[in-house]
Amino acid sequence: MKTLIVANWKMNPVNQKEAKNLFEAVKRGIKSVKNTMPAGRQVEVVICPPFVYLNLLKGLTLGAQNVFYKEKGAFTGEVSALQLHDSKVKYVIIGHSEARKYLNETDDVINKKIKECLHEKLKPILCIGETAEEKKIGKKAEVLEKQITEDLKGIVTKEIKNIVIAYEPVWAIGPGDNCSIDETMSSILFIRKVIFKLYNRAISDNIRVIYGGSVDGDNANSYIKNAGANGLLVGGASLHAEEFLKIIRSVK
Ligand code: PGA
Repeated sequence: MKTLIVANWKMNPVNQKEAKNLFEAVKRGIKSVKNTMPAGRQVEVVICPPFVYLNLLKGLTLGAQNVFYKEKGAFTGEVSALQLHDSKVKYVIIGHSEARKYLNETDDVINKKIKECLHEKLKPILCIGETAEEKKIGKKAEVLEKQITEDLKGIVTKEIKNIVIAYEPVWAIGPGDNCSIDETMSSILFIRKVIFKLYNRAISDNIRVIYGGSVDGDNANSYIKNAGANGLLVGGASLHAEEFLKIIRSVK
C-alpha cells in the first residue's frame, strides 16, 4: 500500500502566482525525492488547492477540498463531482471539520457527497474526528462511530476500497495540541473496528486510514511508523514547500 500524503491548502494562497510557485516547488522537490526512493517504498502525493487554482496546476495528482452532491443545475456557488472529474481531480476531501463547522455540513449531506464522488469515480477522503469538548466528556468513540456509520450509509463493499478515512481530531488541527502517537494509534484501531463491524475483516485491514492535525516534518514519520497511519492530511505545513517536502522525505 502506498503511503498517501495529502496537502490541504485550505483557502490559501491568495493569488495564482503564489499558488503556481508553491506547486512548482513541491513538484521539483518530489522529482528529486523519487529518484532517491528505495524500490517498493512508494509515496502518493495529492495536492488539494482551492477550486480556482485546479486548472492552473499540472503534473501532480490533484484533489478538491469539497464538492456538491448534485451533478449539474441550479445550485449557485457549488461545484459538482462531474466538473471536478473533468478538471482531472482524483481525490475529494469530504466532511472536513471546517466544513462541518462553518458550512453546517451534516452527516447526511456528507453521505450524499461521498456517493456522488464514487459515482464519478473520484476518491473521497472522509474526514472524521472528535472536538475537544467531546473528548473531554468521554464521547470520542461514540462520535467516531456515528460519523463513520452515517457517512458511509448505503456504501457497499465493492465501493469502500475507493474511500480514504482521515482521522482528524478537531482539537489537534491548526495551532492546537498534538494528538499523541498512542492516542492516534488507538483511534485508528477503533476506526478499523467500526469498519469491521460494518463490512468485513479484509476491508477493515485494507481501507486506508490517514492522520491529520498539526503534522510537520519532525513528527510525520512517527504517525506512519508508530501510530499505523497509512498517510497524512497536512494543512499548515503544506503551504511551505520545504516543510512539506521534509514530510515526504521523512516518510519515504
Ligand atoms: P493542520 O490542518 O495540518 O494545519 O493542522 C490539517 C487539516 O485540517 O486537514
